[in-house]
Amino acid sequence: MSGFVEKPEPEQVPGLVHLHTGKVRDLYRNEAGDLVMVATDRMSAYDWVLPSPIPDKGKVLTQLSLWWFDQLKDLIPNHVISQELPAGAPADWAGRTLICQSLDMVPVEAVARGYLTGSGLVEYNASRTVCGLALPEGLEDGSELPAPIFTPATKAEVGEHDENVSYEEVARQVGADTAAALRQATLAVYGRARDIARERGIILADTKFEFGFDKDGTLILADEVLTPDSSRFWPADQWQPGRAQPSYDKQFVRDWLTGSSGWDRKSEEPPPALPDEVVAATRAKYIEAYELLTGTSWNL
Ligand SMILES: Nc1ncnc2c1ncn2[C@@H]1O[C@H](COP(=O)(O)OP(=O)(O)O)[C@@H](O)[C@H]1O
Ligand SMILES: [Mg+2]
Repeated sequence: MSGFVEKPEPEQVPGLVHLHTGKVRDLYRNEAGDLVMVATDRMSAYDWVLPSPIPDKGKVLTQLSLWWFDQLKDLIPNHVISQELPAGAPADWAGRTLICQSLDMVPVEAVARGYLTGSGLVEYNASRTVCGLALPEGLEDGSELPAPIFTPATKAEVGEHDENVSYEEVARQVGADTAAALRQATLAVYGRARDIARERGIILADTKFEFGFDKDGTLILADEVLTPDSSRFWPADQWQPGRAQPSYDKQFVRDWLTGSSGWDRKSEEPPPALPDEVVAATRAKYIEAYELLTGTSWNL
């Protein structure tokens, strides 16, 4: 079982048409035909959208994405049009709402990995490959890869699991030209972001991008970018291959869910509400990541 523990109701805003309720974002279309992307405080883990929101998470994701889009804009155009709040929108949408170009999305999770962990490590342990790419012997959890790799995944619906696929499979699905453009853009953006993060004491182990095409057929960087939801950020001074790395994300939530919560991941039961201290510790991690990366203090 998986999905929403409590399915959220979209807001009714005059002039906006509700399009989609994602795990974290609610999507609307405005009268100009642009996408209104509202990041919520929803938290997902183990393919569930949890019943406990993390206060300010939507704002952190939105403001951190905007900061990154700005760092990357000479490499690739992005989908952001403005932060203007639609007329009649709830006041609490401020800081977490973006007006974006509505794109023809490429249905691929464009993942770049510079370090081995997670699903990459599982595949490596079984076959010495990740997404079919051969890797050297002797790597362990957290090892830096000889060079960053493009490890695409298929995009799953809410409650489904993303699945790693080979580059050839992506080329079959979206065409060879689009696959090549995705790989090139993914690795270029990863390389820039990795260097910026590293200067700030953070290892960008891996990250996921989504791209779309605009009306002119230009590839545009979309969705959120380089947030703790889409990336593994590790404190560089604690990096130690051979074990799981501490990270700036939902680690507290995962540890609590699989540990003292008593919830069985493999059961049909939805996960329980998070205790206040797990919510607070998670909120603090998201804000810490924002502050370290941007070099500014969180004051929204
Ligand atoms: N510019 C865009 N045009 C159209 N769709 C977009 C754009 N940017 C992001 N999206 C889509 O918006 C959704 C974001 O909501 P989110 O809650 O992150 O969804 P998911 O559950 O798929 O992670 C995703 O489905 C993403 O593909
Ligand atoms: Mg998403």
